[in-house]
Formats: sequence, C-alpha cells, structure tokens
Amino acid sequence: MNTVPTIELNDGHTIPQLGFGVFQVAPAETADAVRRALEIGYRHIDTAEMYGNEKGVGEGIRASGVDRADVYVTSKLDNGLHRPDDARRAFERTLAMLGFDYVDLFLIHWPLPMLYDGDYVSTWQTLEQFRRDGRARSIGVSNFQVEHLERLAAETDVVPAVNQIESHPYFRNDEVRAYGAAHGIATQAWSPIAQGEVLGDPAITAIAERLGRSPAQVVLRWHIQRGNIVFPKSVTPARIRENFELFDFELEPDDVEALDALDRGEAGRGGPNPDTFAYVP
Ligand SMILES: NC(=O)c1ccc[n+]([C@@H]2O[C@H](COP(=O)([O-])OP(=O)(O)OC[C@H]3O[C@@H](n4cnc5c(N)ncnc54)[C@H](OP(=O)(O)O)[C@@H]3O)[C@@H](O)[C@H]2O)c1
Repeated sequence: MNTVPTIELNDGHTIPQLGFGVFQVAPAETADAVRRALEIGYRHIDTAEMYGNEKGVGEGIRASGVDRADVYVTSKLDNGLHRPDDARRAFERTLAMLGFDYVDLFLIHWPLPMLYDGDYVSTWQTLEQFRRDGRARSIGVSNFQVEHLERLAAETDVVPAVNQIESHPYFRNDEVRAYGAAHGIATQAWSPIAQGEVLGDPAITAIAERLGRSPAQVVLRWHIQRGNIVFPKSVTPARIRENFELFDFELEPDDVEALDALDRGEAGRGGPNPDTFAYVP
C-alpha cells in the first residue's frame, strides 16, 4: 500500500504529508519533473517565487492530466517583496505564472528580521487578505523562529497553518517544532535528507541495510513518523519513485532513537540562520 496520509491544518484544510519539492530544479526541466512526480502518485508540489519555476509547475500539472483540484500547490513570497503593495503584485504574478486562480498554501519565505525595519507583521496581514478573498486556501510562514511566531500571535489574528523550516537528522530544530505543536502550526521539514548529506551516515546506512530500504527512505520515513510534512526534491526518475515508497514499512522505536541521536543542534544547520538571513535576490 502506498497511500499518502493527510494532515489536517488549523484552518480545516488538509495537506498530503508527502510532496515533491522543486528548489534548484531548472525552469526548463520543471514541467517534466512535476509531470513525472504526478504520474508516480505525488499530489503535492512545493515551489516558490524565488525558485523561478512556478510556470513549469503549472505546465507540468496541466500536462499530467490530473485535475488541478486534486493537486496541493504551495508557493512563497520572495524576499524583495515584503511591503504590502509589492506582496499583492507578487501574489498576482504567482497565480499568473502557475496559471491557476488559487494556491492551496502561500507562505512568507523568510522572516527577514533585519530588513523592512523588522516588520514581517504587515506582510503577514497582507497574506491574511489573500486567504480572506479565497486566492490562498491556507497561509503560513517559513523559517520563522519562536520569537517571530510569538510576535505574530501577539499582534495578528490568524495563526499560520504551517511553518516550513530546515529539519533533518543532523538538525532536528525541535524548539521551533515544539512551539508549532503547542500552537496548532504544522511543521514542514525542508531539506529533509539534508540535500543528501545524511545519507552516508553509518547509523542510517546500517538501518537501511537491515530493512532492505535506501538511506533516503529511512530518513523520510523518520520524518513521516515524527508527523513532519516533507517534499524531497529530485530530478532523477528512480529517486522520485524511491522517495514516494514510504508507506509499506515502519521504523521500530530503536531505529527512531538512533536517528534522533544524530542531532547536532545548531552545528547541524545546513542553510542560513533565519535570525540574520537578509538575502534579496
Ligand atoms: N522554505 C525554504 O527556505 C526552503 C529551503 C530549502 C528547500 N525548501 C523546499 O524543500 C524541498 C526539499 O529540500 P532540498 O531540495 O533543499 O533538499 P533535499 O530534498 O533534502 O535533497 C535534495 C538533494 O538530494 C538528492 N536526492 C533526492 N532524493 C535522493 C535519493 N533518494 N537518494 C539520493 N539522493 C537523493 C537530490 O539529487 P537529484 O535531484 O540530483 O536526484 C538533491 O541533490 C525543496 O525542493 C523546496 O521545495 C524550502
């Protein structure tokens, strides 16, 4: 059986727990990769304005023959466009690029506390409007630290449906996850296999060999059992298939513990630190 479970978000919408990420997929290759993923059975695609490939995502979905309504599509606001007027125009461009009249989920990609006078609050309130007018079924954030989430809770009316954060065995990022769990914010784990960095770890390869699974499947299964939403990226057909085959085996508690023990805390972070990240493309 290979049925992808769904997770209910705090606004009542549901999201498939496993999807397909397209960060660093070249625009010209995106439609093919997305179509292939949909053929295999994925029904959730994670893109962003910053990735430059929203057009290919829309084309791939249309080429697949799968109904738009049956695919969960996420995009994210780019870093240079946080001011409300810019954000409104950017969101319209996202819909035009995708060729859809709504997205399932729209996120603030990074909090950028060092830019815009530290004001991610008015940006969030702009996303609230997209949700109210139905063009974003759900809204959320990405790379928000506990402090940023606390500020949204204090100053705004809508709790983000998700927080999309870096998380993998070398950097569990559990403090942010725990805040989400306590406040009804689902955790999406980006770079779930640490862009391949964790796959040669002896603790992971030993479990994979014993179970007759690949290291990537073991790590992705660990995320699923933790309740994370994941969308591994691959442009390699065999890997796209392999990453989808996660629902016909389970990790026993000892194996989960062995993976948990790989956490290196802040030293295991592979991407930028959201407290200081201030990149504008
Ligand atoms: N919100 C954010 O700030 C943020 C940041 C980063 C990522 N994301 C999202 O999260 C998604 C996933 O993260 P990611 O792309 O950074 O990294 P990832 O999914 O952890 O890893 C992707 C890398 O691993 C390789 N790979 C994939 N499956 C494999 C397998 N079964 N065996 C061996 N290698 C495999 C891929 O190679 P090939 O493609 O060559 O096969 C690629 O180099 C992104 O696509 C994006 O949607 C969000």
